[in-house]
Amino acid sequence: MLAGKKIILGITGSISAYKAALLTRLLVKSHAEVRIIMTDAATEFITPLTLSTLSKNPVLNKFVRNESGEWNNHVELGLWADSMIIAPASANSIAKCANGFCDNLLTATYFSARCPVFFAPAMDLDMYKHPATQANLQKLTSFGNQIIPAENGELASGLVGEGRLAEPEHIVSFLEKYFSQSEISNKKSLAGKKVLITAGPTYEPLDPVRFIGNHSTGKMGFAIAERMAAHGAQVELVTGPTHLQLTNSNIHITRVLSAQQMFEASARIFPQSDITVLAAAVADYRPAEIADQKIKKKEDSFTLNLVKNVDIAATLGQQKQPGQIMVGFALETENEESNAQEKLRKKNLDMIVLNSLNDKGAGFGHDTNKISVIQKDGNLQRFDLKSKTAAAEDITNLIIDLLVEKAAQTS
Ligand code: CTP
Repeated sequence: MLAGKKIILGITGSISAYKAALLTRLLVKSHAEVRIIMTDAATEFITPLTLSTLSKNPVLNKFVRNESGEWNNHVELGLWADSMIIAPASANSIAKCANGFCDNLLTATYFSARCPVFFAPAMDLDMYKHPATQANLQKLTSFGNQIIPAENGELASGLVGEGRLAEPEHIVSFLEKYFSQSEISNKKSLAGKKVLITAGPTYEPLDPVRFIGNHSTGKMGFAIAERMAAHGAQVELVTGPTHLQLTNSNIHITRVLSAQQMFEASARIFPQSDITVLAAAVADYRPAEIADQKIKKKEDSFTLNLVKNVDIAATLGQQKQPGQIMVGFALETENEESNAQEKLRKKNLDMIVLNSLNDKGAGFGHDTNKISVIQKDGNLQRFDLKSKTAAAEDITNLIIDLLVEKAAQTS
């Protein structure tokens, strides 16, 4: 059953678009709330009227509704959904989603979606087998999306599926299985656990109008907060300045500016936390003095006296109790792995997530990240470049493994 699930069904231009009518009918029958977005090409194969009648909601197609001039907000749509399914997914739409093109409402919504996205490809077999399509499908998978192949579609060549659209019944049961499995694993994994996460940059004031800061956006820390909350944890997120918003009500947010404020908020929450993830880019130094008034321009050169900030990770690491798990981050530009290993030891962490500025698409501001994770025993795992949400899911799963390990040691 998909009771209460909010599903965006994206329909693209393929002859099998006619099957979207049955798919809509089955989703509604399974008690899902369905909103449909069609590409222009899809409207050539099946009428929006059929689909709006079946889904009991207007079908969306353009960024702006012609009759009222209203904006179809793809960001809101993307946040509204519990899942998005693109069926049929044409070779063209797959290519757009895999390569960052968002020239229609459907693909723009895909890029705004924070929920799991499923693609049910549909195209002629030669198009499907083409290395470009296969590479695009692999890219989509590496971004954390799932492909729903046609049933019995495993080909000897190692391709997934055979280009034929999966039957609507199969798509619905695939979704039902996904939701029931994720609900079971959510219940099992972090339910009842208290998690402290630091995120974002810190701003160290200089005078009433200036500060020293860094380029961190908080995306990675927020993604971890979302994933851990989705796994049932009660999350306390302490964040420096960022424009990001949260979607899960199991996350309580404390907004701070400076490293000192971040430390005070974290130190207050830390003793009750089972798991602490330090994803913030904390300024190592702050101006020794904060001027009451705006500092005026005088000499040709200006020397700023800086003093060291408290190391939140190291201080909390010293207070860590045997049952508590602490995970740190390391952003390095050289000798990445040995520097990260040294930080893990010095700060008494259980695990450290390394992202290197040398990797394309990784680090500050990007929506993707390429991480390596080092455990206390020196074990190192390298992950592919993927969305920060997918990387956050990997980190969450490793933390769950650590919890299970710790529980086994103490029992
Ligand atoms: N960290 C912290 N408080 C600080 C500095 C860092 O909690 N004052 C945490 C970060 O959140 C991260 C880890 O320590 O989890 C490593 O941060 P990083 O900036 O990579 O290392 P530093 O210890 O600051 O060392 P350096 O700047 O010399 O690389």
